[in-house]
Amino acid sequence: MSSSVRDGGGGEELVGREKELEQVRQYVGKPHSPCLPALFVYGTSATAKTTVVRTVMEESKCRYAMINCLETYSPRVLFEQILNSLSGDTPTPDNLYGGHARCDTVYKFIKYLKGVCDSQEDPKATVYIVLDNCERLRLFRNHDLAVFLRLRELVHRNVGVILISTVIWEKFREGTGFADPLMAHFPAYTKAETLAILQRRTPRDVHPSHFRQFVSLLWDVFHGPCRDLNELAHLVALFFDKYYAPVRAGKINADNKTALFKAISPLLRAHFSSLYLRETSTAEWLAAGAGGDGDKTESTAAPSSASTTSTRGASQLHKLELPYFAKVLILAAFLASHNPARSDLAIFSKRQRKLSKQRGRSKRKAARRADTTAKFRLPTSPSTFPLSRLFAIFYSLMDEETDLTADVYSHVKSLLSLRLLTRTTTDDNFDSAKFKCTMAAEDVIALGRSVEIDVVSYLHEVNA
Ligand SMILES: Nc1ncnc2c1ncn2[C@@H]1O[C@H](COP(=O)(O)OP(=O)(O)OP(=O)(O)O)[C@@H](O)[C@H]1O
Ligand SMILES: [Mg+2]
Repeated sequence: MSSSVRDGGGGEELVGREKELEQVRQYVGKPHSPCLPALFVYGTSATAKTTVVRTVMEESKCRYAMINCLETYSPRVLFEQILNSLSGDTPTPDNLYGGHARCDTVYKFIKYLKGVCDSQEDPKATVYIVLDNCERLRLFRNHDLAVFLRLRELVHRNVGVILISTVIWEKFREGTGFADPLMAHFPAYTKAETLAILQRRTPRDVHPSHFRQFVSLLWDVFHGPCRDLNELAHLVALFFDKYYAPVRAGKINADNKTALFKAISPLLRAHFSSLYLRETSTAEWLAAGAGGDGDKTESTAAPSSASTTSTRGASQLHKLELPYFAKVLILAAFLASHNPARSDLAIFSKRQRKLSKQRGRSKRKAARRADTTAKFRLPTSPSTFPLSRLFAIFYSLMDEETDLTADVYSHVKSLLSLRLLTRTTTDDNFDSAKFKCTMAAEDVIALGRSVEIDVVSYLHEVNA
């Protein structure tokens, strides 16, 4: 059975984190304890790294700066945020957003940090710098991170550094000058711990054992691909009302686990392909009244077998606020995935299109009619294509002349991170990598309409 401790901040209980709390407490010690080398706290997402460190910092009564490195895009922003936080100088319109000092080099940072330490009531008391999501610092110059690992030696004051990361330490060691930090690993939660944490979300009108039964079921289904507490909490919010609707309606007994599981399993199965995607936020889902009534709304219905990745909310994809180029790139990726490469020349060469415009207007009209009903069948499952083919189709779709700029490359990167495009090779070289577009045809057609491109008329099936 997992035990729990109360955190120092909001009074929430931290389940199964006693050992980790103790580890961080030992590192921090008493306000005047001499500082140890930096502490590197790492573990997967939502394992309470930030919460534990903040709790210990608040308990310690030491002066500390806790910086989320995701908000710092340059060393200067990072240095200034640390100094502002430690000195209590906030940039406001009155001081012309000046903050503590302008600080863009390591030399100045060390100089000002000494000043901040000496200006304390008790200059010997330890000062802590906590860098959350510190993997971001790998984007900076190598020596910026090395400085934080040797800060105590450089400043000659009692300064402790705690680094928090989801990435293991080995991935940080790139250059020279790295002093190895002390390690604190936060392991992923066990099933019992996850249930104990999520149990707190039990709705008032539901018996805790019934809620626990649901969370346990959710864990059993999803723990393979997903152990992230935040994502599991999101799934609980999405599906509990659906799961419990037959009980509320008096159709199934709350203890009948098997029948309740049978009723919810198509929905859970459909959700596998959109884990972490958050096509619908928890708040939107609840606002749309997905829970409780037990109706099968469009978004909760299991995906039709015709669509490849179409799941909950997929029909909303064309409303995504994407830049024009990104939308055309999706269309190009879709065509590259569904047309055989040998047909590209015939379909996309501008001259050919002009000729076929004259010859086959009626054919295209028929295709457009097919588009409106969207009843055509795609030839095969999507196939892979190289980047060069994607760009070739992209430029054929664009009306005006466009240069191949870094912009277009960055759109490809964004589409990959949005998972609208899939990379099928793990090759380091981006140019020789292969890609695939697994979006459903209906979504791509709708997206095409928003940029006035008739995707169907470019399909090999229609042109053959
Ligand atoms: N053991 C726990 N008991 C109660 N709540 C927890 C526990 N672990 C995590 N949480 C909750 O999960 C959420 C995420 O925790 P936290 O931000 O501390 O995790 P993290 O490890 O810093 O995640 P990330 O790596 O994504 O930043 C918080 O709302 C926290 O209250
Ligand atoms: Mg965190």
